[in-house]
Amino acid sequence: MSIKKALVSVRKNGSSHSGRLLSDRKWLIPFFASLLVFLTLFSSATFGVFTSSYGGEQVPFDIASYSRLEDSSGYFVESDLKKWFDRSRYSELEPPRLAYLISGTKGDSQRMMRTLQAVYHPRNQYILHLDLEAPPRERLMLGGYVKNDPTFQEVGNVRVMAQSNLVTYKGPTMFACTLQAIAIMLRESVEWDWFINLSASDYPLVTQDDLLHVFSNLSRNLNFIEHTQLTGWKLNSRAKPIIVDPGLYSSKKSDLYFTTQRRSLPTSFKLFTGSAWVMLTRSFLEYCIMGWENLPRTILMYYTNFISSPEGYFHTVICNAEEFQNTAIGHDLHYIAWDSPPKQHPISLTMKDFDKMVKSNAPFARKFARDDPVLDKIDKEILNRTGRFAPGAWCIGGSDNGSDPCSLRGNYSVFRPGPGAQRLQELLRALLSDEFRKKQCS
Ligand SMILES: *[C@@H]1O[C@H](CO)[C@@H](O)[C@H](O)[C@H]1NC(C)=O
Ligand SMILES: *[C@@H]1O[C@H](CO)[C@@H](O)[C@H](O)[C@H]1NC(C)=O
Ligand SMILES: *[C@@H]1O[C@H](CO)[C@@H](O)[C@H](O)[C@H]1NC(C)=O
Ligand SMILES: *[C@@H]1O[C@H](CO)[C@@H](O)[C@H](O)[C@H]1NC(C)=O
Ligand SMILES: *[C@@H]1O[C@H](CO)[C@@H](O)[C@H](O)[C@H]1NC(C)=O
Repeated sequence: MSIKKALVSVRKNGSSHSGRLLSDRKWLIPFFASLLVFLTLFSSATFGVFTSSYGGEQVPFDIASYSRLEDSSGYFVESDLKKWFDRSRYSELEPPRLAYLISGTKGDSQRMMRTLQAVYHPRNQYILHLDLEAPPRERLMLGGYVKNDPTFQEVGNVRVMAQSNLVTYKGPTMFACTLQAIAIMLRESVEWDWFINLSASDYPLVTQDDLLHVFSNLSRNLNFIEHTQLTGWKLNSRAKPIIVDPGLYSSKKSDLYFTTQRRSLPTSFKLFTGSAWVMLTRSFLEYCIMGWENLPRTILMYYTNFISSPEGYFHTVICNAEEFQNTAIGHDLHYIAWDSPPKQHPISLTMKDFDKMVKSNAPFARKFARDDPVLDKIDKEILNRTGRFAPGAWCIGGSDNGSDPCSLRGNYSVFRPGPGAQRLQELLRALLSDEFRKKQCS
């Protein structure tokens, strides 16, 4: 007597044309009967919920009572989810932990390891993604390298994504991959406060001790995301074209393509754009990934046909979500230099950029050519790196005879901030000033 039975009989009829009229009548009656039962149950359930929660008092179900319900949170599933999400916040008393994604393509594995070692700290979490353009051999090598490193093995905070993705330049597959990495980190580790996005051609300009020390003192709900609202001609040239990313369904790498149709501008949200390099909080990323509100999902779907979506997705979500708008700090924490007039890619930093880089007070810089001598200078003069890792207070081994001080690990919550911490403090002072924050999402 169920809908299922009715459906079965519909399917049967689909295959055999004869006797259709007859069985049409056969299933119509049970179908409407079960529909009636369902509707009765449903309306009594809804009615029951509202009467019982108001102590039997009759509540007229109109717009006025609707808004009253919304104020007295607790009636709708979303408010419960929000409570859970506030509770699940990781203790703010402890120093923070960071989650890094380091991504690269064919031929990048050596550089990724170098960047990883330069930003390594046992407090943090790391995930490496080598895209599908890299040959399997390279991925195996990277996996082997991580697996055979005694420190990574013992601490267990470095992961390599086995499932690699096809990533199209400027396409949605680029940030889909970032979202996947974030989802893995949310699942695998409860202990991180900020997510940072690096590529193989990025390098730090402060030690992790500097970074963790300075961020210990910072509110854990600040998102570092450089952003501006898309307006004027830029809005038309970015938001009207419709692109398709073949990386979403093809197993071979190819470029994005543009359709001949154009679409109108969105009216239910405003578009923002900015740097693809971000440092985002766990709570904002839970909001984006878990999707109990529809805004992040709607915008994700919108951006699948948008050119340069990695430079817009998080920016548009954060500036359209009321609870996060005030947490967006308009800086990507990177030193990036451009030609004038700017070309498509930033310039590769070399020795002559060293002073400017340091003076910028930014904790990271990009982009660097593989094994550029300036990286050795950064290792020596900024990171004080002699062994595998840029050392911190957690490295308590001796360094005589060229042995690695980090082979013996001490307390992970103790930091030894150096000059890098002062530079970073300086930058944050400027970023957190009222003057700077006035420009948020406008
Ligand atoms: C994250 O970093 C990678 C660097 O490899 C970049 O390509 C990507 O666009 C970044 N941003 C986002 C939002 O995914
Ligand atoms: C933390 O903040 C307090 C108050 O703003 C300040 O006095 C202190 O120097 C800061 N400490 C660090 C490590 O930044
Ligand atoms: C650099 O490392 C050496 C050896 O670990 C240490 O003695 C020295 O104080 C460090 N210098 C800085 C600036 O951190
Ligand atoms: C350094 O090497 C010398 C000779 O190889 C050895 O006698 C000494 O014990 C070593 N020192 C440390 C701290 O390992
Ligand atoms: C590590 O250092 C922190 C901060 O100084 C301290 O509170 C904690 O007790 C230390 N932990 C251990 C195991 O010594």
